Amino acid sequence: MEIFCAGRKPWLPLASLTNQMKKRLKWILVGLLAGFALLQLPNPGHPNPPVKSDFIAAARPPATVAAGLRAACYDCHSHETQWPWYARIAPVSWLIASDVNEGREHLNFSDWPAEAPTAAKKLDRINEVLDYREMPPKKYTLLHADARLNEAQRKEIMDWTEAAAGKLRATTN
Ligand code: HEC
Repeated sequence: MEIFCAGRKPWLPLASLTNQMKKRLKWILVGLLAGFALLQLPNPGHPNPPVKSDFIAAARPPATVAAGLRAACYDCHSHETQWPWYARIAPVSWLIASDVNEGREHLNFSDWPAEAPTAAKKLDRINEVLDYREMPPKKYTLLHADARLNEAQRKEIMDWTEAAAGKLRATTN
């Protein structure tokens, strides 16, 4: 197994393995590689369907609120997802696709409700997840520094969602 030793001192205690063990190890590695390759075949797609009704155009938040939500939420909660390169590699691709599908189901900034009571409820939920610091998810902001909201941004978005939900309710009552 020259590949492990490359003519120099082995970097693993492979020298102590018997030839039969080395052979087995080789086949295990080949099997793992083949498994990884097969895993790539049924890769999920990366659909960005057309935007139906964009939240920013419909609800007209201040530019800073719009920018914050766009940077921190739109990858999972809109049809304008910026799919990273690693979204093409299984099994990570499956995790990302399921986050985006689930995210869009719960809240979709590209399909913003026209009815005031429904929109007000969505704003309440946004306010809540920011209050509890549930969103954006930590696993996401670890890799996306530009999606982190600082305290001032978080507060500004929360104040605006509360006021906007109140206004929507006032118009329907
Ligand atoms: C990495 C993807 C991702 C990002 C980024 C993200 N979310 Fe989510 N969000 C999800 C997923 C997945 C769910 C559904 C499962 C859950 O509740 O955890 C969800 C659920 C929600 C819900 C619905 C909660 C409920 O129970 O009804 C709201 C509201 C929400 N997110 C708001 C936001 C806001 C606001 C941002 C940006 C500040 C954001 N999310 C960023 C993935 C994301």
